[in-house]
Amino acid sequence: MSGSELNLSVNIGQKLSLKNPVMTASGTCGYGAEVARFYDPARLGALVLKGISLAPWPGNPCPRITETACGMINSIGLQNVGLKAFIKEKLPVAKSLGSPIIANILGGSVREYVKIARALEEAGVDAIELNVSCPNVKKGGIAFGLDIKSFTKLIKAVRKDISGPAIIVKLSPGAQPIEAFARAAQEEGADAVSLINTVPAMAIDADSRRPLIQNIVGGLSGPAIKPIALWLVYKTSKAVTIPVIGIGGIRTGRDAIEFILAGASAVQVGTASFVDPAAPVRVLEGIEGYMREKGIKDISALVGGLVTGCS
Ligand code: FUM
Repeated sequence: MSGSELNLSVNIGQKLSLKNPVMTASGTCGYGAEVARFYDPARLGALVLKGISLAPWPGNPCPRITETACGMINSIGLQNVGLKAFIKEKLPVAKSLGSPIIANILGGSVREYVKIARALEEAGVDAIELNVSCPNVKKGGIAFGLDIKSFTKLIKAVRKDISGPAIIVKLSPGAQPIEAFARAAQEEGADAVSLINTVPAMAIDADSRRPLIQNIVGGLSGPAIKPIALWLVYKTSKAVTIPVIGIGGIRTGRDAIEFILAGASAVQVGTASFVDPAAPVRVLEGIEGYMREKGIKDISALVGGLVTGCS
């Protein structure tokens, strides 16, 4: 079976059609142009860009990233160029790369989210990922992602105003029960949910007795969180009919297939890109290799295809 005989296309609701299920995870490909020297971004299903806030933001004090066993902790704190510069300088370049563009957005209030989403709709992004799960900012973000009332209010308000781009809601592993948050997102008109964002965590240097992250707490990502992410994707996909996008420690095609079998329609590759910047393309090639090996022509045949009972 050659690559062209395989059908890897997926629909994220009615508004977003992707040629394959592999995307970058927000915060791991900059604004898109940064990865173009490592691979052709047009090969991916979509590029999910670094989170954007209304005003430019310098992020948290350094050190704000540290490696852990099987992963890393970051407390970047949403460093970004702000909405205006994003639309003027970053988005036109990102759009020229040939891949659908998903803007990840984060606001301190419902009004801010709506304002950013409106501007991005006008600027022609393909989808908006509502970041209600960043553990590294004091205002907004996760405050909306852990409280079902604020969460529901936010999605309702954004949905009311946005009709062009697909709306994806990025969930925190701390949103409990996660099924309730996913159902609320669906009921309020979200086109998909993506999960999981990082897991709040810390690291300590025993010699200096100091934290390795200036902010003390950051978000753990990478293979260490993959089993948690798989479980939450599995549970969530049973609770909703909108597509679920799996995120968490995906490094290989087989990792991605595990998420798809658990119920994900698509996946995002994040931390693996810090080891190998071309990781998203390797994941895509790995998925294709798996499909050829198993004689599967259409990726949709694998979605939710977990067989219960251990082998
Ligand atoms: O700190 C950060 O910028 C991380 C954002 C996120 O986890 O969504």
